[in-house]
Amino acid sequence: MDSDTGDEERSGRGGVIVLLAVLAATAAAVLGVHWAVSVLFATVVAAAVLIRAPSRRKTAEKIDVFSGEADRLAGIKGALAATDMPLYLLDARENIVFENPVAAKTFGEGPVGQHVSLRNRSPAILDMVRETIAAGKSTEVEYSERLPSTQVYAVNCAEVAASVQGSGVARYFVLSFRDISETRRLDRMRSDFVANASHELRTPLAAVGGFIETLQGPARKDPKAAEKFLGIMMEQVNRMNRLVDDLLSLSRLELKAHIAPSEKVDLGPLLGQVRDGLTHLANDLDVELRLHLPENPVVVTGDRDELMQVFENLIQNACKYGQEGKKVDITLGGGGETPVEVTVRDYGQGIPAEHIPRLTERFYRVSVEASRSKKGTGLGLAIVKHILTRHRARLIVTSKEGEGSAFTVRF
Ligand SMILES: Nc1ncnc2c1ncn2[C@@H]1O[C@H](COP(=O)(O)OP(=O)(O)OP(=O)(O)O)[C@@H](O)[C@H]1O
Ligand SMILES: [Mg+2]
Repeated sequence: MDSDTGDEERSGRGGVIVLLAVLAATAAAVLGVHWAVSVLFATVVAAAVLIRAPSRRKTAEKIDVFSGEADRLAGIKGALAATDMPLYLLDARENIVFENPVAAKTFGEGPVGQHVSLRNRSPAILDMVRETIAAGKSTEVEYSERLPSTQVYAVNCAEVAASVQGSGVARYFVLSFRDISETRRLDRMRSDFVANASHELRTPLAAVGGFIETLQGPARKDPKAAEKFLGIMMEQVNRMNRLVDDLLSLSRLELKAHIAPSEKVDLGPLLGQVRDGLTHLANDLDVELRLHLPENPVVVTGDRDELMQVFENLIQNACKYGQEGKKVDITLGGGGETPVEVTVRDYGQGIPAEHIPRLTERFYRVSVEASRSKKGTGLGLAIVKHILTRHRARLIVTSKEGEGSAFTVRF
């Protein structure tokens, strides 16, 4: 504001000087005085310079408005560049003005200035961009990419708020891609889990219900049949009990997944104890359990009961599913400089390679029938994985069809 008043003053003063100079020059010319004309001519030039000065200031001001716009754009770009999500800045003609580094990394780098359709051909996204530019309202669509892996994005287009200068300022729009693949995967897992759990419970429940009906009807006066059916019902109830126990155990483990255990556990005696507990099962299945321990004690930081649960399930599985091999080797090794490892190896049928990555999923079984007939719930390895995650340990599975499998826990 001050500078505006200054400019007016100066142009006013310049005008008066020019007027005086012209009058004086006319008088001098009339008088025929040469030197006076030259002096007055100089005065006119000086006045003209004075008058021009404010107009140059006006141009400078216009440039200021323009560079304000450039600053605003630079500010927007800076903010977009620092955001950890693929983002594009578009102008009102749907051309890409800027892409942030995450966008370049995720969808590939491309030259700026191009129409957005040259970067993404999804009709839903292009319609959305057009709609946002026309209506000025932010909109969102879902977009998924199949390659290289399935990714789901919530894509949003919103106008960047215009700056205070208001009219005449270019409009910009931010096109953002929020990755919701993980949320979708968890949603699917949760609903699969509920579906699986209810299915697993429904089968024994239906069996128990069926036998109760038979006992109330046709078999009412048949004590022999009643005894047999009650035996089957007890088995089904036990199965449901195991399932509920496993489910509870899983949810308890999930609750403390981030709390690392602190106990010191000597693995040699622990494995001996697990082996003793399973000798009965192994004898029933005609499998020999062979424990190989090093001379020195091997101690790890862990939760004793949970580690027992891990090795119980691995050895149980080896006996149940590797029964034909007739023996199971349990080997403890490592310690000191090398990582501590416990390997449970069976010599049974082995596991086809395509099943190995999915073994630790809840309710995943290579053969549902085989597992059910062996009283499996399909939750054992899911529990193992949870416990090992909490122990910062890994489960490594190797298997050769026809030769057997090895499950190694590496601490
Ligand atoms: N040593 C093994 N040899 C062959 N298949 C195995 C072996 N260990 C596990 N499996 C396969 O992996 C599946 C999942 O094992 P997991 O321990 O999770 O469940 P389960 O033994 O069926 O039930 P649970 O352990 O809850 O009683 C098993 O059903 C079986 O098909
Ligand atoms: Mg098991």
